[in-house]
Amino acid sequence: VTERSLSISPAELVAWTNSILRQAGASPEAAGAAAASLVDADTRGVESHGVAQLQFYLPRLRTGAIRGDAQPEILVDLPAAALVDGHNAIGAYVGSIAMDFCCEKALRSGVGAVAVRRSNHFGAASWYSERAAERGCIGIALSNSDPGMAPTGALGPILGTNPLAIAAPGAAGMHRPSLDMATSVAAQTRVILAARAGRRIPAGWAIGPDGAPTDDPEQALRGAMLPLAGHKGFALAFMVDVLTGCLAGARISPEIERDPRTPRPQGTGHLFLAIHLDSLCEPHEYAAALQRLTDAVHDAPRTAEADPFLIPGEPEARVAAERFTAIPLTPETVSLLQELGDEFGVAFPLEEVRAP
Ligand SMILES: NC(=O)c1ccc[n+]([C@@H]2O[C@H](COP(=O)([O-])OP(=O)(O)OC[C@H]3O[C@@H](n4cnc5c(N)ncnc54)[C@H](O)[C@@H]3O)[C@@H](O)[C@H]2O)c1
Repeated sequence: VTERSLSISPAELVAWTNSILRQAGASPEAAGAAAASLVDADTRGVESHGVAQLQFYLPRLRTGAIRGDAQPEILVDLPAAALVDGHNAIGAYVGSIAMDFCCEKALRSGVGAVAVRRSNHFGAASWYSERAAERGCIGIALSNSDPGMAPTGALGPILGTNPLAIAAPGAAGMHRPSLDMATSVAAQTRVILAARAGRRIPAGWAIGPDGAPTDDPEQALRGAMLPLAGHKGFALAFMVDVLTGCLAGARISPEIERDPRTPRPQGTGHLFLAIHLDSLCEPHEYAAALQRLTDAVHDAPRTAEADPFLIPGEPEARVAAERFTAIPLTPETVSLLQELGDEFGVAFPLEEVRAP
């Protein structure tokens, strides 16, 4: 930990996250999976799905809503498809096992599909899609989530912010294409972090409990996030629920537990898909097409004011390259981690907070 810059090494943050999850009742495997996924998100600059998520995971472990020692179970096992019961284990543990299982099917059969019921919040969806991309597959990860999104005019949330991620193997010298997004304009935890920092949120992100647009994060948290691209984001979130909650026999997002301090399990559903590239296409043809596609974006003519155009995943890869040895933490995140450290009995290893 370097106190003055308010930063911490990824290894140190993983170690503390692992310890506090263990202290709250997670098994070594479950704590390891969750710590790796959360710190990876912080490393890529996705603070909303980094260690800030511990404020939800730790109380759920304490009440037993997340079962720290549960083992996922395979209910249906076909050559290219499977159904997994997460038994309410920590989401990153269930998801990592399910995506690995899905990739094994894809490497054998060309394609794999694994549906998951009775899981929990699984963090950033790209943790799973990129896992598949590392194994030579196009990976797709979908999840439903607790209800936090509705169109303007709604008097409360209707659907989850149901994320989706698609990652594909990169080619030499190129960024790996990786899309990872909520189906709302922005992930709801970004509003929770803005509320903690006393910041307004951008116009167009959320509505208050009266159904009217708001830039006040407190109002937004009593209201709902807006879907991305209006009706299309809402429709997309609905279909993510069909592919996760309905297909897997999990809870649908309107039924997923929001309150992290009740013992009622979330019952989240996921769907993981993997398509093995070499089974379908010539690797050099794929690489050449991906290169042309990437060049078409990077080299596109633009106005003097426009920022360079990027491909999906490029912003996060650039941040990760800078955070290889040190992850900067905002003062709000530090105070959150210190509070959690006090509450759950594993002090956060940053004794004194200094403004950067
Ligand atoms: N587990 C859950 O229940 C849950 C729910 C909602 C969101 N999430 C997670 O929240 C995280 C944040 O989601 P979000 O929607 O707020 O993210 P976001 O709005 O920042 O969008 C991120 C995506 O846009 C791409 N992108 C950003 N700038 C770009 C540019 N200039 N050109 C091309 N692509 C660009 C990124 O590479 C990334 O794929 C994600 O990791 C998501 O999985 C999880």
